[in-house]
Amino acid sequence: MRKPLIAGNWKMNNTKLDAELFMVDFKPLVRTHKKTEIVLCVPYTCLEKVKKLCKGTKIKVGAQNVSWADKGAFTGEISADMLKELGAEYVIIGHSERRQYFGETDVTVNKRTVQALDNSLKPIVCVGETGDERAADRTEAVLKTQLAGAFEGFSEEALREVVIAYEPIWAIGTGQTATPEQANATIKFIRKTLAKMFTRPTANKVRILYGGSMNGGNVAELMDMSDIDGGLVGGASLKPEEFASMATYNA
Ligand code: PGA
Repeated sequence: MRKPLIAGNWKMNNTKLDAELFMVDFKPLVRTHKKTEIVLCVPYTCLEKVKKLCKGTKIKVGAQNVSWADKGAFTGEISADMLKELGAEYVIIGHSERRQYFGETDVTVNKRTVQALDNSLKPIVCVGETGDERAADRTEAVLKTQLAGAFEGFSEEALREVVIAYEPIWAIGTGQTATPEQANATIKFIRKTLAKMFTRPTANKVRILYGGSMNGGNVAELMDMSDIDGGLVGGASLKPEEFASMATYNA
């Protein structure tokens, strides 16, 4: 059984004060919910604050990137130790915005994911194709390359600790969601690829989320699909009532 996981990706939104106001509204709405694992991936600056505000709940906090190095001359980076000190349990790695604007590659995604696992942070590794790649029927080839790069050298045990987020880039922040059938078929392909790279039992254990304009209106139909184990939610995770309704879609 793969436990459903709904993760919010706040991106570069919310100061500490905004985060506090969010939590005042959000926390009571999800307090007793146990069926879904709920994670808030927040900016570094409010990690500690949000972690404290989650005390007494099952909500977990995560970051949006982690360095591949332990420490040293890496200006602007943040280490796994630093994130853990602030209370992070999860970390998003290789988000398409990191790949597009900050030169993230499959090689750096691999290194960051190894570092996260070595330090007991749970990685949420993002993959996905652009609109042009889908139109050119290249989705599967692109995903195969991303998966092979991200998990090169991984053991079965390591892969089982990873969460994958399938985020078609054309669906991120556009309001254009993949249909449940489209998302499920692609996630099935990801699982099939993992089964070939590792084994079928391991592939069946890995949680694979969908991300891209997921919201309160489409969460249930996406989550109903056989292979979609959760969501990585951007815009809608900034709205406490809507995100709470998503996190408790199976209440
Ligand atoms: P969105 O973002 O829900 O706003 O489309 C998802 C993401 O980028 O993780």
